[in-house]
Amino acid sequence: MILVERGFSMGSLYEAELRAWQAEAEAKQAKAQVAALLNSTSWRITAPLRWCASKLRKTPIKPARLLPVMALRNFVQWDGEREIVEPTAVDGNVSLEELMAIVTVVACHRPNTIFEIGTFDGRTTLNLALNAPAGSKVYTLDLPVSAINSTVHELDFHDRKYVFKPSSGARFAGRTGSEKIIQLYGDSATFDFSEFIGKMDLVFVDGSHTRAYVEADTRTAMLLRSPRGIILWHDYSSCWDDVTKTLNSLQATDPRFKDLFQIAGTSIAVMPPKALVPAV
Ligand SMILES: C[S@@+](CC[C@H](N)C(=O)[O-])C[C@H]1O[C@@H](n2cnc3c(N)ncnc32)[C@H](O)[C@@H]1O
Repeated sequence: MILVERGFSMGSLYEAELRAWQAEAEAKQAKAQVAALLNSTSWRITAPLRWCASKLRKTPIKPARLLPVMALRNFVQWDGEREIVEPTAVDGNVSLEELMAIVTVVACHRPNTIFEIGTFDGRTTLNLALNAPAGSKVYTLDLPVSAINSTVHELDFHDRKYVFKPSSGARFAGRTGSEKIIQLYGDSATFDFSEFIGKMDLVFVDGSHTRAYVEADTRTAMLLRSPRGIILWHDYSSCWDDVTKTLNSLQATDPRFKDLFQIAGTSIAVMPPKALVPAV
């Protein structure tokens, strides 16, 4: 396994650990304050009023799903072998059904080069590698903890917890298949992708979920894909509204995205290569 580490120093890691420790202490203190408030007399008096006010507030409307939904078998027909390891999903991973759909696309499409934006614990990375042909390469980019407060675009509060982890790709480390994986580090909005442009047979977009990042990562994916390249996005029509909104608006306004579709039973959106455009 080759490990490539960029923009990362022990000094900044130490600072990041200190910040993480401080954030944890602040969270504990906030939790204690909330508990104290919940037990206070004033809370008991004001709670009914707060409840009434919350009922009057408008419920945010989820963006509608606009992409057509298609069964996976209408896109790829594959009865051959697929290998799934690490089947148990944790918060931050794709579901098992989604993992199955992704590896089916890989087994059928046989990408020689794969680029994943957002490694997390490496569960999907490892399964991509195991189902890709011998000699293929899986590049996976992750934001190092040390860069969490210096990203180009602001990170969503909920995205930050997936950045905070002891190491990226812990689930592929030392495993069979990891010899195909190249771990890269950086902010996807500033990372130098030049050596990968036009060369990736499959790109999996699953990094930060704000509109600015989904737009930036989608622009990148479009540059990275080879003429036979497929792009997959995780979290379409999920709790991450910005993924849904961004892909909806691209499909509605940019002819290059007109063939986007969602795989039935998953939150995976697909841009097929021209030769594989299915009849929806
Ligand atoms: C939802 S997790 C990815 C899950 C993973 N693809 C899987 O299938 O298990 C999002 C990952 O994106 C990374 N990330 C967030 N913002 C990023 C950025 N600006 N550049 C690169 N990676 C980023 C986080 O560190 C985290 O590991």
